Amino acid sequence: MMGRRTSDAVKISILFSFRATKVFSGEPLAYPSPAFFSTSIVGETPILVRDFIRSALYDPNHGYFSQRSGVVGMLEKSIKFNQLEGRKAYMRHLDKIYKQHDIAWFTPVELFKPWYAHGIAEAIMRTANLSIPLQIYEIGGGSGTCAKGIMDYIMLNAPARVYNNMTYTSVEISSSLAKKQIETVGEVRSHLSRFTVECRDAADRSGWGDVNPQPCWVIMLEVLDNLPHDLIYSKNQVSPWTEVWLEKRHDSSCLSELYKPLKDPLIKRCVEIIEMDKEHVSIGSSAVSAARSIWSKIFPKPRRSWIPTGCLQLLEVLHGALPKMSLIASDFSYLPDVRIAGDRAPLVSTKKDGSSLDHSSYIDAKGDADIFFPTDFWILERMDHYCSGWMKVQKDTSSKQGKKRRTIILDTASFMEEFGLPSKTRTKDGYNPLLDDFKNTKFYLSVPTHNTK
Ligand SMILES: C[S@@+](CC[C@H](N)C(=O)[O-])C[C@H]1O[C@@H](n2cnc3c(N)ncnc32)[C@H](O)[C@@H]1O
Repeated sequence: MMGRRTSDAVKISILFSFRATKVFSGEPLAYPSPAFFSTSIVGETPILVRDFIRSALYDPNHGYFSQRSGVVGMLEKSIKFNQLEGRKAYMRHLDKIYKQHDIAWFTPVELFKPWYAHGIAEAIMRTANLSIPLQIYEIGGGSGTCAKGIMDYIMLNAPARVYNNMTYTSVEISSSLAKKQIETVGEVRSHLSRFTVECRDAADRSGWGDVNPQPCWVIMLEVLDNLPHDLIYSKNQVSPWTEVWLEKRHDSSCLSELYKPLKDPLIKRCVEIIEMDKEHVSIGSSAVSAARSIWSKIFPKPRRSWIPTGCLQLLEVLHGALPKMSLIASDFSYLPDVRIAGDRAPLVSTKKDGSSLDHSSYIDAKGDADIFFPTDFWILERMDHYCSGWMKVQKDTSSKQGKKRRTIILDTASFMEEFGLPSKTRTKDGYNPLLDDFKNTKFYLSVPTHNTK
């Protein structure tokens, strides 16, 4: 079973399991002011697609995440999987929960609490050097369930000095979610003296202050998918890529795309890391490329490609501020039924009166729509090596040597089988939603090494 909406059975499963089909309760939602149309995001001068996405999701007044802590739902009680008969009973249970809650959707860390967070805590404890104070950062901690679960686990399972000396710093862009995190973590009073929330954009270097040279952990669960992306465009199979900007049409009623030669430094770096700039060079003989060129003129096929510039910026900032960080990230590796054109295209989804509407244009996002992208974990790994300084070394042997990182990409099931307690999320007949349903999510682990080659 791979994703959502590919068959009825999957559809039901995903309806409750994946955020892609988060369900609202029937109550009217506090949608942003209707005056906040996508044309308000773009002023008199054109903007890059990533800036449009950033405003649509995080504008402090109208952004999808900014004003509504309810977009990240929270379960009051853990689900007792062992008491459920099987898949049908699990679905019925979730249906009941969704009807009771005025929430947008549940992420895996919520659905499988506390076991999901405990798996992450165990991965940290097995890998960290526990003779020095444990420093954990979480980016985009949502409602704080992961933070609380990890601190609970360390309090109960690590030597007392590890819990006593640990710090857990949450960097959260949404003020309403930052507040919620303190409430959640504060349920265990002793956690509060070790826990801090910084309400800011983690991708802004200035917020991190001086470099922290200590080994530390950075956790990001379902954050990469909501980071701003850029769009690049080529009018046929052989023309060079251009960067996409958005501008208001003359009558100001809607937006249109504008294509400019690649110039933005972040886009250019991203294209270079993904090696999209080499696509044409590696085609082969000149006869083949001549044939390709003729073919592209007769049958031009425009190309659109979404590139994770927001993720690159975040990784650059994290490597700069926390050079000895170990990273644990989990996200969607694949999204089915995407209606928007282009490689790695996002789902743009609005919920109203309990049902979801997927848009066919990203320009329709107006602060009332979630915009989320699949993560290409191969690209993530490449960007991580590039930002740590190691990948540049590969090309340029004369430059300073950077550090190679040890990295691994795991299916959610493999990660949880290794570090979690799968028996806790198993129903009576053996069905295990955490292992069986989350086939389109993966974990990425990356730790620094001491070698300098
Ligand atoms: C999809 S939610 C995931 C929440 C939580 N990690 C979970 O799995 O339940 C994404 C979270 O990332 C936060 N976020 C997104 N971009 C951010 C940024 N640049 N800096 C800090 N937080 C960010 C959002 O406000 C939200 O809390």
